Amino acid sequence: MKQDNIIIFDTTLRDGEQSPGASMNIEEKLRIATQLERLNVDVMEAGFPIASEGDFEAVKKIAQTVKNCQVAGLSRASNMDIDRAWEALKYAGERGRIHTFIATSDIHMKYKLKMSEQEVLDAAVAAVKRAKSYTPNVEFSPEDATRTRLPFLAQVVQAAIEAGATTVNIPDTVGYTIPTEYAEIIRYLKANVSNIDQAIISVHCHNDLGLAVANSLAAVQAGARQVECTINGIGERAGNCSLEEVVMTLRTRQDILPYATRAVTEQITPASKLLSTITGLLIQPNKAIVGANAFAHEAGIHQHGVLMDKSTYEIMTPESVGLNQNKLVLGKHSGRHAFIDRLKHLGYDLSREEVDKAFTRFKALADMKKEIFDEDLDAIIADEVLRVPETYKLQQMNVSSGSFAAPTATVSMEIEGKNKKTAVIGDGPVDATFKAIKKLTKSKAPLLNFSVGAITGGTDAQGECTVRLQSEDGREVLGQGAHPDIIVASAKAYINALNKIAGNQKRIKADL
Ligand code: KIV
Ligand code: ZN
Repeated sequence: MKQDNIIIFDTTLRDGEQSPGASMNIEEKLRIATQLERLNVDVMEAGFPIASEGDFEAVKKIAQTVKNCQVAGLSRASNMDIDRAWEALKYAGERGRIHTFIATSDIHMKYKLKMSEQEVLDAAVAAVKRAKSYTPNVEFSPEDATRTRLPFLAQVVQAAIEAGATTVNIPDTVGYTIPTEYAEIIRYLKANVSNIDQAIISVHCHNDLGLAVANSLAAVQAGARQVECTINGIGERAGNCSLEEVVMTLRTRQDILPYATRAVTEQITPASKLLSTITGLLIQPNKAIVGANAFAHEAGIHQHGVLMDKSTYEIMTPESVGLNQNKLVLGKHSGRHAFIDRLKHLGYDLSREEVDKAFTRFKALADMKKEIFDEDLDAIIADEVLRVPETYKLQQMNVSSGSFAAPTATVSMEIEGKNKKTAVIGDGPVDATFKAIKKLTKSKAPLLNFSVGAITGGTDAQGECTVRLQSEDGREVLGQGAHPDIIVASAKAYINALNKIAGNQKRIKADL
């Protein structure tokens, strides 16, 4: 049977980065981009170049570095945005795609744009023409398409294709549609836009009603040939269509979805973990494909069936998504080669200097803990390699607490090259520690959330803490820390969040 190809357009670095707390620096974005390249997505949307100097530099760097995927940059329908987008994208040459958009729903035109239908139509055409003057690879999106009057949607799409758009994206911007309705919209466009066969129809779904994947697949069945999605489904509000769910559904249900993608599905788990480690956004355990429980069989009857024949309860293999269940455990006597091998298997491609740092930390951990699991290695890499530049460094800390003593934390830190130390009493060991760090760093960022977990099983497991702070500009920032001592892990998470805020502030200053 002839299989139609579905273009996987990943927008983790653009729409995904709009998740609260998910902002990434250039180096982090580049790491994700490299992993997306291994995953073999067709197009990666690297950012919104006009949004900030940092976004511009990230898109430029990715356009310069990535070789096997197209690189897209977002722009509003204005000359300034489009020129700026191409300035960053031009390094990708023919693989550079300008993605320009303008809202077309009555609600958006009236309240947000304050423009008439004719003005929006003219702006869309002008934007596509401008983009086309730079590159043949132009995508146009009528934002809030699913709440747009269908005849107007068809008119705008027709005009955008006439002006040169090679991809027309139909966004469900507010996650409002349902599968049957969305498929109907795609069919309507196929029937009412006379030049529709000159462009690829793309779909872009948000997950506000939990339907982003179902909607995207319904649209594919109706004729869409590009799906926009993000790793782990991250994105604004309830997120975007999840890449791993769409790709694995297409792979698993070939019987009724005879479509192919180029995705190397074994790279899904490394991509998912890397993103979670970098952003600090944890994955819910029951998340399809990449959740910790996605391939776990707890009930006795299921375990029995799987032991007899895996197909009884497994519709896809863990290996097909890059989850190796025969975890190799490292220990105190494991050498550098075994260590590097394991890191490579987990998807980490590190420089010599990064390996040195991580290996030293590995040896220190192996002295405290008998067995080192993959999850421990992820935490080491997060701590030693993926760390944002450290304005604040934890040097030493000591905490005394118990049912009898007033919890006291003594913390010493290096702050912009100077050593500082303080001792503070708190309501508990974590409270005392956070108060001490706050005092030393003079931070005013309110603490929104603090959570503690264990990375692996056993009482010698490393504690993993997440701290969510609010920075001055109202943005949420996530920090993570891991250590066999849970209070030290808390301190590391708190300081990691403070370093992210300091990094953002430096970037904002550089933009001004
Ligand atoms: O959700 C949306 O409408 C978007 C567009 C910019 C494509 O992200
Ligand atoms: Zn979106």
